[in-house]
Amino acid sequence: MSKLDKNRLPKHIAVIMDGNGRWAKNKGKARVFGHKNGVESVRAITESAAEIGIEYLTLYAFSTENWNRPKAEITALMTLLVLTISKETKTLNKNNIRLHAIGNLDNLPINCTKELENAIASTAKNTGLNLILALSYSAKWEITEATKLIAKKIQDNEIQLADITEDTIQKHLCTAKFPDPELLIRTSGECRISNFLLWQIAYSELYFTPTLWPDFRKNDLEEAIISYQNRERRFGKISEQLETDNNS
Ligand code: IPE
Ligand code: IPE
Ligand code: MG
Repeated sequence: MSKLDKNRLPKHIAVIMDGNGRWAKNKGKARVFGHKNGVESVRAITESAAEIGIEYLTLYAFSTENWNRPKAEITALMTLLVLTISKETKTLNKNNIRLHAIGNLDNLPINCTKELENAIASTAKNTGLNLILALSYSAKWEITEATKLIAKKIQDNEIQLADITEDTIQKHLCTAKFPDPELLIRTSGECRISNFLLWQIAYSELYFTPTLWPDFRKNDLEEAIISYQNRERRFGKISEQLETDNNS
């Protein structure tokens, strides 16, 4: 197996953390047991990404569609979220990790939003890995919100219709501050995007692995990065042009 090239790391890795429920079921346990173990993977992968030298790590933790799950599971997930965030803030600071959140955060329970805001403020000066949690997030929601913001600016004569570019849209997404992910990982063998970062992954390399999220560790992350590094990213060009680009 080839090795990870530290000089060609993706800046931004996004992860659809899937398979907690199946992991628990395989062990004859309740779904929440899977989520609790999923938190261990979050901890391990955050630390690993920082060690490897990744600059941005976006984790899909709860989707807009996940609000349709049984109420007891939602409550358990939200409780886990609050506990984890308050418990982990110290470690984030120790590891120079800056926390961010994207999504419709107004929909989260108030204690959840508070813990989140505290952790974001407390880590705001950190300069290492940017850890971005996608919570109550969906890409269609995000694009709809961006459209409304832009339409309002046109209505208020702040910008003109003719001025709208791809950059205008990018700047109105929740991810405006972050570069697009070069690599998107989904665990658990499902090969779909489930309403995650639709705009931002337009040219991302997609990596699907059968490993369930609670089993996902540093070596799995490295394998995904190696797979990414073995691909030719052509961006519409042909191979020969890339060789010339590299030599010029
Ligand atoms: C991912 O695991 C965690 C969340 C979506 C919150 P799942 O809970 O979707 O686990 P599976 O897909 O049912 O195994
Ligand atoms: C996607 O997983 C959302 C998160 C990982 C937070 P789901 O398990 O909710 O996705 P589907 O239902 O399989 O598409
Ligand atoms: Mg799932």
